[in-house]
Amino acid sequence: MEQYIIKGGNPLVGEVEIGGAKNAALGILAAAIMTDDTVLIDNLPDVRDINVLLEAMESIGVVVKRLTRHSVELHSEHIGEVSVDYEYIKKIRASYYLIGALLGKYRRAEVPLPGGCNIGSRPIDLHLKGFKALGARVNIRNGFIVAVADHLHGSHIYLDTVSVGATINIMMAASMADGYTIIENCAREPHVVDVANFLNSMGANIKGAGTDVIRIRGVQKLHRTDYSIIPDQIEAGTFMFAAAATKGDVMVKNVIPKHLEATSAKLMEIGCEVEEFDSAVRVVATKRLSSTNVKTLPYPGYPTDMQPQIGVTLALADGTSIVTESIFENRFKYMDELARMGAVVRVEGNTAIITGVEKLSGARVCAPDLRAGAALVIAALAAEGVTTVDDILYIQRGYEDFDGKLRSLGAEIARVDSEKEAKKFRLRIG
Ligand code: EPZ
Repeated sequence: MEQYIIKGGNPLVGEVEIGGAKNAALGILAAAIMTDDTVLIDNLPDVRDINVLLEAMESIGVVVKRLTRHSVELHSEHIGEVSVDYEYIKKIRASYYLIGALLGKYRRAEVPLPGGCNIGSRPIDLHLKGFKALGARVNIRNGFIVAVADHLHGSHIYLDTVSVGATINIMMAASMADGYTIIENCAREPHVVDVANFLNSMGANIKGAGTDVIRIRGVQKLHRTDYSIIPDQIEAGTFMFAAAATKGDVMVKNVIPKHLEATSAKLMEIGCEVEEFDSAVRVVATKRLSSTNVKTLPYPGYPTDMQPQIGVTLALADGTSIVTESIFENRFKYMDELARMGAVVRVEGNTAIITGVEKLSGARVCAPDLRAGAALVIAALAAEGVTTVDDILYIQRGYEDFDGKLRSLGAEIARVDSEKEAKKFRLRIG
């Protein structure tokens, strides 16, 4: 099983290029099948989640042509199947975006019900509520969601909880429904806006994405488009916290600073210098960071996907911090791993109380999920000694060449998949 081995203590210094946003690309790839014309998508991140979704799309008849590592050409005129195999949903939940796309285009979709995952139960009741409101009959049969609509019509939908997935899935189905749809209490994340912009570039009529009310006038057909994915604000924020935790100086390039406002504000609050440029952000940390309190909220609040990254950074801050996770019910599993590195943390329900320590020590830890895994790498980079991170497959789901990018910033990190390689690296770093 592949691992990262990290020798901590080096401040990260230099420049890093951010890739396309995984969570925008997942919605956009699904939406791309809604036209029979050719679709070109650029700035795709080469990460496991994206590659698995492309396989799922091929399994129902989409022709996927890889033009470069980060661009694909899609042909969806010969989709013969509206049933997606369980093996894909098991690998990535976001395959469920194919429901909204298939339902919008073919008035029928059969996709396995996604299970829970490591950060919480993650129901999709709001997705299904939206499809029913648009006129679909939705049943759960043998672990599959079967959604069928004789007539898909506009509707006025209120989302009880702010949900990125439900907003995107319902927006896709409604974009080809007959009539006018209003979705209230929508998610406002940049990746929701990117999916809306993508659909509009194919001829959809969607207004208000990025606000909490989205208005959609359904269209009969969608046409070809050539689209480039926005930069990944979560990958960017992860490197910003890596700079902060290692007292480094990193220029994070190819970002949209506006998407990083909550992250930049928190970094400045704990004592970092953050400088914004047109498409880059520079983070400099020269002294010991200060404690703070943070609560995760839907965008534009502080992102839940950046909660582990600030959690590990505050473990080294001066003072006691309180981190409240208001989106998912099980997103503090990494705290047990962090405690094994010497952090002083206490988790009570959806709140973590972190008492900063002067230093963390290297240990053998396990990545519990995607963002927590990346956060444990940050902790290892800041710790004294050598850390081994297991289960890094989670991290590779959402970070392209994570160890390579960190090495380019001066980190002593290797990705190894044998005891022999591990030993060789350990000997080299001494
Ligand atoms: C998306 O998940 C992201 N995944 C997550 O990123 C991110 O953490 C999350 O949004 C919040 O920003 C992708 O975009 C692929 P939600 P999603 O629906 O859409 C509840 C990562 O690290 N809810 O906004 O599944 C839900 O339980 C991943 O890249 C319902 O109750 O999140 C949660 O408490 C991790 N019913 C809250 O809403 C529903 O039908 C927000 O979930 C849907 C959601």
